Amino acid sequence: MAACTLFFTVGCGPMTGTDAGVDAGPQTMFAKYGAAGFTAVNNKIIEKALAAPTASVGTSFQGLTDAQKMTLSNNLAAFLIQAYGGPANYTGKTMTAAHTGLNITEAQYDYFISDVVVPALSESGVTMADITTGFAPAVTEKKAGSVKCATVQSGTKPTGCP
Ligand code: HEM
Repeated sequence: MAACTLFFTVGCGPMTGTDAGVDAGPQTMFAKYGAAGFTAVNNKIIEKALAAPTASVGTSFQGLTDAQKMTLSNNLAAFLIQAYGGPANYTGKTMTAAHTGLNITEAQYDYFISDVVVPALSESGVTMADITTGFAPAVTEKKAGSVKCATVQSGTKPTGCP
């Protein structure tokens, strides 16, 4: 259990090279919405992220090649499934590594959650109660090792992040 002690801030997930967010969400969400539900949500997140105004979300998505978009889509799906209680198959980068150099600000991050992720969830049939109490906490919490703290690397550090 040494790994669990070492990685206590993100839970006792398998050692897949992730350092933030994986296994952080309520483990009941995957059982409730299933692989098809998560795939639908993921596809909508990608679609909305790529269509989001650069003034709000920045230019990082526009800089991706088609191959990079495909990798992002596959890795994000695996990440979300693992984070919310599905099979632990995520083999992508850590959240810190994945977002290094993208200069994501807290405002861009918050826009991504409120205008990309939340609509993607609700349009896919996830209840507002599950969005608020099930999905949101893992991506809005601000503490060492959280998804938000790892992803926001530009501008003022969010209050609560190390
Ligand atoms: C809930 C918050 C977020 C989660 C869970 C998340 C998750 C991920 C994951 C799993 C990857 C793939 C890593 C890999 O391929 O190894 C990734 C890559 C990426 N993310 Fe995020 N992300 C989040 C927020 C954001 C935000 C707010 C932005 C931009 C405003 C962003 C932009 C990107 C881009 C452009 C890539 C591709 C990087 C590359 O291929 O070089 N992400 N993210």
